[in-house]
Amino acid sequence: MEISNRIRGFQASPIRRLSPYARAAKERGVKVYHLNIGQPDIRSPKEAIDAIHTYPNEIIAYGESDGDLALREAVVRYYKDSVGVDLELDDILITTGGSEAILFSLMALCDPGDEVIVPEPYYTNVHSFARMANVSIVPVTSLLDDNFALPPLSMIEERITSKTRAIILNSPNNPTGHIYSPKELETILRMCADHDIFLIVDEVYREFCYDGKTFTSVLKYDDYAERVICIDSVSKRFSMCGARVGVLISRNRNVIRETLKLSQARLCSPTVEQYAALAAFNAPVQYLLDVKAEYEKRRDFIVKALQSIPGVRCSRPDGAFYLIAKLPVEDAEDFAIFMLRDFDYNGETVMMAPAEGFYESKDLGRDQVRIAYVLNTEDLGKACACLREGLKAYKAKRRF
Ligand SMILES: Cc1ncc(COP(=O)(O)O)c(C=O)c1O
Repeated sequence: MEISNRIRGFQASPIRRLSPYARAAKERGVKVYHLNIGQPDIRSPKEAIDAIHTYPNEIIAYGESDGDLALREAVVRYYKDSVGVDLELDDILITTGGSEAILFSLMALCDPGDEVIVPEPYYTNVHSFARMANVSIVPVTSLLDDNFALPPLSMIEERITSKTRAIILNSPNNPTGHIYSPKELETILRMCADHDIFLIVDEVYREFCYDGKTFTSVLKYDDYAERVICIDSVSKRFSMCGARVGVLISRNRNVIRETLKLSQARLCSPTVEQYAALAAFNAPVQYLLDVKAEYEKRRDFIVKALQSIPGVRCSRPDGAFYLIAKLPVEDAEDFAIFMLRDFDYNGETVMMAPAEGFYESKDLGRDQVRIAYVLNTEDLGKACACLREGLKAYKAKRRF
């Protein structure tokens, strides 16, 4: 009996596939600093936790497929007050995480064999969602040397073919931290209109923009409203990754109506967690301001710490909480495994995500890792010390 070629073609997540090595290290008593995954150590809003503890219903029942009404109303309010965008309830589908919103978007817009254009490096799970939908990713490469700025827009336009259905952007970007400027967004929207394709923008890190940079949502461009899907989530904004509550937004009623069929097939998103997400949206905005200040502090700290390690270069992210670091090694995955399997520094080590899996093009990112600065600065300092010492030990080992 054979399993499908489709599933065999999937990649194991570069964020998670080294987990068995981390587990074994912990079993040996080694403390592992997890910089591999965007799981913040930041507390969820107290209001959200209280909502879980005081959930009033006696049955955890199915909810509506398009999401809890009170939560959708809260999302409309949030967009009006915080993003400056007027939405209607019917523009919104609550999804099981931003992940499901990305998958649903691809399923709704693309037929098997179609293509989507994505700047790389990119959020690696989009690769798997595209495979689920039998869609090909056509990459446009951005470079560490340019601090991962968007490549010339002509390069994107060159990639558009008769099979292209959408361009997918993520801003602020995981893994580069790049934020698309209003000018870039408008030019890309015009390009999408010229070629009659959609623009999907994943804005789950919208609140985390640093150095006083402001964020412009793709939903602000009314003239292009019909060709836009925006992806959102409570995972990172409210440090509620395990709640699995996301949002798909489009003013294209056809997109919402058709996508609702997918929502109905999976019945509903988690009921209690939607109740908690509602409480998070209603929490004082100071929560988000404090969290953003904390990430900015961490960004400053880790960029300085990494750049002080001989041979390491890294991007300076403008937003989100990730960066790509180039290491003085040939094969970052081999090094990441070494750090977990063969090394510790005072009983501690660090787990990073090899960056190769964040590129679609072959052989890019082999000497890079993606680092999530989701730990407090004290832990980040210890993690960077492990990295510094690990690189020395790895180099010494390679000499023999
Ligand atoms: C850019 C981006 N989009 C979507 C997601 C998935 O978020 P969710 O937990 O809402 O599924 C992530 C998770 O790391 C992400 O980095």
